[in-house]
Order: sequence, then C-alpha cells, then structure tokens
Amino acid sequence: MECSDVEGFSAEARTHALNPRNCGPMDDSDGHAWITGPCGDTMAFWVAARDGNVEKASVITDGCGPSVASGSAAVCLAEGRRIEEAARLSQRDILDALGGLPEESEHCALLAADTLKAACEDCLNRKGETRVEKSDGGERSCGSCSDEKCSASKQLKGESDEEYEDRRLLQSRLCRIKHKVIVLSGKGGVG
Ligand code: FES
Repeated sequence: MECSDVEGFSAEARTHALNPRNCGPMDDSDGHAWITGPCGDTMAFWVAARDGNVEKASVITDGCGPSVASGSAAVCLAEGRRIEEAARLSQRDILDALGGLPEESEHCALLAADTLKAACEDCLNRKGETRVEKSDGGERSCGSCSDEKCSASKQLKGESDEEYEDRRLLQSRLCRIKHKVIVLSGKGGVG
C-alpha cells in the first residue's frame, strides 16, 4: 500500500500517503469491514477494542495516493476514541486531518469514513453491548438481506434517527456485496 504520486497534496496528506500508519490486516480483530467504492477501489479496516475504546485500527486499500492517505488518517483519528465516536468520524474530519485533498479526490475520504464506520459497527455488534431497540420498539433490516443478525436491524444507543438511516443504507450496500470475492491487489499491491 504505497503511492509515489502526491502532486497537489498538503504536507500532511503527503506524509500519510508516503508513510501510511498501521497498514495491513489484523489478526484477532474485534471488528472488520470492507467496501468497494463507486470508483472500483476497495478499502478494508480492522478494529481492536478494549474497554469500549478503539485500541488499534489498521487499513488496507488497493487505491492509490488519496485513498492511502485517507485510510491512514482515519486510523490515526480512530485510535483512542470510543468505538461509537470512531464510527461517527466523517469525510470532513478526515479531510481536515489531511489538510484537504485535491477536489477530485475528496470522495476517497468518504470511502475511508464509510468503511471505518462499518468496521466499528461490526465491533459493536459482535460485543452486543450497545445495541438497543428502536424507540418505537420495531426492528428493520437493511432491506437487502433477511439476516436477523444484520447490523442494521437495530438502532444503536445514542444514534440519531438520521444516523441510523445513514447506517442502514450503508449496511444495505454491505449486505449486497458481502458474498462477492474482492481481490485486494493490483495497482501496485497492498499491505
Ligand atoms: Fe477510489 Fe479514491 S479514487 S477511493
């Protein structure tokens, strides 16, 4: 997971792209997710949790410069935060941490935010500590699966209706693609 094309990057984005933090899969993680964005690039995050905090996060992507930088910045932002808080890190948070990205690459930060969020949700669901019923007592699925363990079936504690809806739509994408085999190589390799 390297990139030498950093033209137009801020100093911070350049540092993350050339020396990305915590690259590579994690053994025995507590949460994991991967998403292939509309551009065709895939990003994957692993999260290890302790006492409700993100103790360690790691990332791989087959995208280049901006996606490498975004994944690296997301790892740095996530570590040490409450898992729920890390799940709420946004595209804007990542762009701010990078000192911005070229406009045509800003979507790479969205892919990083979405994938980190999905990994954190996976972590929360595995631990089963913070899942609560929706306030109306009803349950919903993501709309793409009938799995009763689908992470979108319940609203999380502290999650607004709007955040829940966003997550449900994201989970819907994950459920549609989770049976596909994604090759995390090419474009110079990963890891
Ligand atoms: Fe694919 Fe940025 S171009 S993630």
